[in-house]
Amino acid sequence: MGEPIIELKDVLFSAQNREIVRHTSLQFEEGKTTAIVGPSGEGKSTVLKLAAGLLIPTEGMVLFRGKDMAAMNRAQNSAFRREGAVVFQDSALWANQDLFQCLELPLKIHFPKMKAEDRKARITEVVKEVGYTKDIHVRPAMLSMGEQKLIAFARALLCRPELLFLDEWTESLDDTAAQRLINLVRKLQAEKKTIIFVSHDLRIIKNLADIVITIVSGQPGLIMTKDQLIKNENLSEIIERGIAGDAKGGAP
Ligand SMILES: Nc1ncnc2c1ncn2[C@@H]1O[C@H](COP(=O)(O)OP(=O)(O)O)[C@@H](O)[C@H]1O
Ligand SMILES: [Mg+2]
Repeated sequence: MGEPIIELKDVLFSAQNREIVRHTSLQFEEGKTTAIVGPSGEGKSTVLKLAAGLLIPTEGMVLFRGKDMAAMNRAQNSAFRREGAVVFQDSALWANQDLFQCLELPLKIHFPKMKAEDRKARITEVVKEVGYTKDIHVRPAMLSMGEQKLIAFARALLCRPELLFLDEWTESLDDTAAQRLINLVRKLQAEKKTIIFVSHDLRIIKNLADIVITIVSGQPGLIMTKDQLIKNENLSEIIERGIAGDAKGGAP
């Protein structure tokens, strides 16, 4: 593998006196799609947030193109925030803003010289891409969970990111909406974007991931490449129970 775009180096993350992520060293390859899988509550979202630089490790380091994220200056941090976009598991839209405002803010921050009409055009474009067809001048609370996911996805696409962090990004979506997002991810893959996602959906993992990493008890277990993934008959079991370490049927 070439230079990793993101690297976790012996990371420990604790909160409220609990070690949520432990002894974790992982490398994410540029231009590849990595799926983080495993049972609920085992640390997948925390690993994703650490990789996205949204959480600072208690011990160890997270590197972006070889630079310690915790030591990045304001300009480097801002560039990284523009380059890397996140879809949160709970969508995390601003409750007291309408959808248009939620989508306008990142453009205002990252492209301060952009004209209002151009912002509006870009917002209309991404909303259409994700297939949201209802009013965008309503607050997130008016939307279903699935619709909130669509808007969160649209927000992630806004600034044309190079790196995407997607947490349970098809959860609560109907098949048509999920398929639309899958197609969007395929397009991003063709453009050689780096994608790191968390999912429980076997079909999505098999279809989209180049590499699969299981997280169990806050630690990476099995790491599989696409070939091993296709051959692996125990994948659903791995996702549900998170068999760690033992590459049963997974080794080439
Ligand atoms: N900031 C936090 N403070 C305390 N506990 C947390 C925090 N974040 C996550 N946890 C706990 O850590 C565990 C792993 O969480 P998470 O990474 O969200 O798991 P997953 O995404 O695999 O379901 C859970 O038990 C969760 O409640
Ligand atoms: Mg999670």
